Amino acid sequence: MQATETYNDQVVRLFLLASAVWGIIGMLVGMYIAAELAWPALNFDIPFITFSKLRPDHTFGVIFGFGGSALMGTCYYSAQRTGHTRLAWGGLANFTFWGWQIICVLAMVSMPLGLTKSKEYAEPEWWIDIFTAIVWVSFGAVFFATLARRRIRHIYVSNWYYGAFIIAVGLLHIVNNLCLPVSMTKSYPIYSGAVDAMVQWWYGHNAVAFFLTAGFLGMMYYFVPRQAKQPLWSYRFSIVNFWALISIYMWAGSHHLMYTALPDWVQSVGMAFSLVLLMPSWGSAANGLLTFNGSWHRLKEDPAAKFMVLALVFYAAATFEGSMMAIKTVNSLSHYTDWTIAHVHSGSLGWVAMITIGSLYAMAPRALGRPMYSHKGMELHFWLHLSGTLIYVIAMWTAGVTEGMMWRATNPDGGLTYSFIDSLIAIKPLYMARWFGGVLIWLGMWVMAWNLWYTAADARKKIISPIPVPIPEPVAHQMPPPLPTAAA
Ligand code: HEM
Ligand code: HEM
Repeated sequence: MQATETYNDQVVRLFLLASAVWGIIGMLVGMYIAAELAWPALNFDIPFITFSKLRPDHTFGVIFGFGGSALMGTCYYSAQRTGHTRLAWGGLANFTFWGWQIICVLAMVSMPLGLTKSKEYAEPEWWIDIFTAIVWVSFGAVFFATLARRRIRHIYVSNWYYGAFIIAVGLLHIVNNLCLPVSMTKSYPIYSGAVDAMVQWWYGHNAVAFFLTAGFLGMMYYFVPRQAKQPLWSYRFSIVNFWALISIYMWAGSHHLMYTALPDWVQSVGMAFSLVLLMPSWGSAANGLLTFNGSWHRLKEDPAAKFMVLALVFYAAATFEGSMMAIKTVNSLSHYTDWTIAHVHSGSLGWVAMITIGSLYAMAPRALGRPMYSHKGMELHFWLHLSGTLIYVIAMWTAGVTEGMMWRATNPDGGLTYSFIDSLIAIKPLYMARWFGGVLIWLGMWVMAWNLWYTAADARKKIISPIPVPIPEPVAHQMPPPLPTAAA
């Protein structure tokens, strides 16, 4: 191999850009549907922009557009660095970029038109699903081929998480979307009744587990030690947590179907596994946070590190909350209420978005060969995002508990104390507050896009094309630790 061989960061930069763009689009839709819940007249009686039609656009845009592009970009970036090798099959990697963007556009256009399988987080119709499977398998092929050509014997832990994320999401996608197409616009799932519900929530829950958790943990395990400028607190602990996480998560999906037609024991299994899940979840959060031991001062000057630390705090909080919500008696209060929405967004805005933004700020200067254009811009983004997330989550917790308590309140004669509309009136101010939180978060995304744009423009102006990063020769020791780990 030539000493002058460089990393393939071209496709990484494209995913970086796409992630910022989908973040703005997905969160704009989130903001709009939040406004519709506070001011229902905003649907203007136009079918395509009613809450029900736009909601899947929000979830698809943020999870698959914003999160998916960030995951694929950071996966390609870190697999090369941890293996000291160039990305395998550059042409196929470019195909995964364009393929993924086409899938997002097709899904986001077809769903408001009513073309949907009506399965949450798996709405697009069958022909989009088939294309998605092809792109996903190609993504896996590029990743595993890159691992196979690594010049470092050890496979660094971030790659284990990315690998599990790729295999599990492919499996979930194919099994859950098996259906009988009757036309280009309509298909029927091959499952029915309680089995359909169980398969859907095996998928839905593990989409959280492997897309929104394992993938982002891969990102965390690569970028946190880099940004803390320290080795991981305990490398061995990260491997223990990996095996515990992936073996427990798969069994917890039935906590989404408490008090339904699903057999009672299946619901109890989901509850038990959800409680145990807290251990590997907190294990990873602790490992990430303790990696900053000795370099907490970096939080003063480095907004990317701030995003990462807060992401880990939210990850710990959201997983603790999830385990508690999986207890049947707690779920009887929280289910159907905005408490679930608070949990979802402390996970997605707190954990997923913050670790993504932190990692993008860490990766962009390296992938573009320039420091970020505006340090103040990153600081501003941090405060906009944090305050918006806190407003959102606190408003929805309050709304959720209010709803739960009002719905179960009874008079001495056994009748309900409140009607449904009473609960809606009670939480309206909280819906307005959530919308305002969303506006702050969305403005923050614009600040990031502006900052990335000028960083890239600066790179273009000064050197025509970003500096290619040479691949270092393989080193005698493994990756990691470049330094000895502190506690392993
Ligand atoms: C500007 C920021 C955001 C706003 C204003 C926002 C707003 C909303 C609203 C209004 C809903 C519907 C709630 C309901 O059905 O009652 C929702 C659902 C959802 N959002 Fe967001 N969101 C934002 C960011 C995000 C991000 C970044 C993610 C993921 C990475 C995300 C993931 C989800 C998911 C998974 C649901 C469905 C929750 C469920 O079915 O329980 N959101 N969001
Ligand atoms: C230990 C880890 C976790 C456990 C045990 C857990 C548990 C739960 C429970 C019990 C629910 C409510 C189900 C219902 O009543 O309908 C739920 C909903 C949800 N959680 Fe978690 N959670 C965990 C971590 C996370 C994380 C880190 C995220 C996001 C990044 C997340 C995203 C979601 C979403 C999107 C839903 C709503 C699904 C829907 O109804 O559409 N969870 N979770």
